[in-house]
Amino acid sequence: MRHFTCVQDLGDLKQALQEAFEIKKDHYQFTGLGKNKTLLMIFFNSSLRTRLSTQKAAMNLGMNTMVLDVNQGAWKLETERGVIMDGDKPEHLLEAIPVMGCYCDVIGVRSFAQFESKKDDYTEKILNQFINYSGKPVFSMEAATRHPLQSFADLITIEEYKKTARPKVVLTWAPHPKALPQAVPNSFAEWMNATDYEFVITHPEGYELDPQFVGNATVEYDQRKAFEGADFIYAKNWAAYTDPNYGKILSTDRSWTVDSEKMALTNNAYFMHCLPVRRNMIVTDDVIESEQSIVIPEAANREISAQAVLKKILLGL
Ligand code: CP
Repeated sequence: MRHFTCVQDLGDLKQALQEAFEIKKDHYQFTGLGKNKTLLMIFFNSSLRTRLSTQKAAMNLGMNTMVLDVNQGAWKLETERGVIMDGDKPEHLLEAIPVMGCYCDVIGVRSFAQFESKKDDYTEKILNQFINYSGKPVFSMEAATRHPLQSFADLITIEEYKKTARPKVVLTWAPHPKALPQAVPNSFAEWMNATDYEFVITHPEGYELDPQFVGNATVEYDQRKAFEGADFIYAKNWAAYTDPNYGKILSTDRSWTVDSEKMALTNNAYFMHCLPVRRNMIVTDDVIESEQSIVIPEAANREISAQAVLKKILLGL
């Protein structure tokens, strides 16, 4: 595998899952694979889980790691071509990217949607510049439209906890005070559509996701109805995708918060969220602290998904 930005890059998903479970049995069995190889992790946005889990995964494989927080200590980067650079950005991404590529073997990039241009966001302008100009394998650590390392970890977690071959998985919108990108729900939908699970998306009207990610999912505007018989509830906020409201908050309706009364409608469902989560906006304290909450094992699986992806990239070097 050269680059990793979406589920299709993994090839056979069942085989990728098997490889992930092999890694989980012994995190250190491929420790020679990354010897004298360097991972550069570039963050345009904040992170806790992605930073730590990916760095740990690389170390398990014997890699050296370097982390660059673009907004803390690096030169401010211009991203537009044709700009007269007489402002506060002394370096252009088009020089910075190949320079970064000189110092490493693999590059991970975190670059969220900026909600300034839907076209720039949905063509993955920043991520694709790394792919095109770094000369190195690039993987997404959450880009504008997808968060594939998270979705892979989510799938591993569902496979570990499912009690039936074809569980009902429900992705539910929940309220949040800030406008959040669609990367996590897009990606989760894309990965769920790559399985044979029963997959339902529920959200208020106006929060429809890009149809390319919704795929064959059932869209149900009645959250309670969607929850009935669910085996997994995956909560996430996202800002509006459809025009003319792209990037806007249309609702902060807390009747969409996941609470124990709604969880009682499910088939004793497990509760999932990618974290960080705003308690009592997205989910109530009692639900996230309940025995059915699997947010911590889900986060732990981020190390496994990152290691499975890095292993595939290293094998292709
Ligand atoms: N879920 C996730 O990607 O967490 P971070 O933003 O902390 O990396």
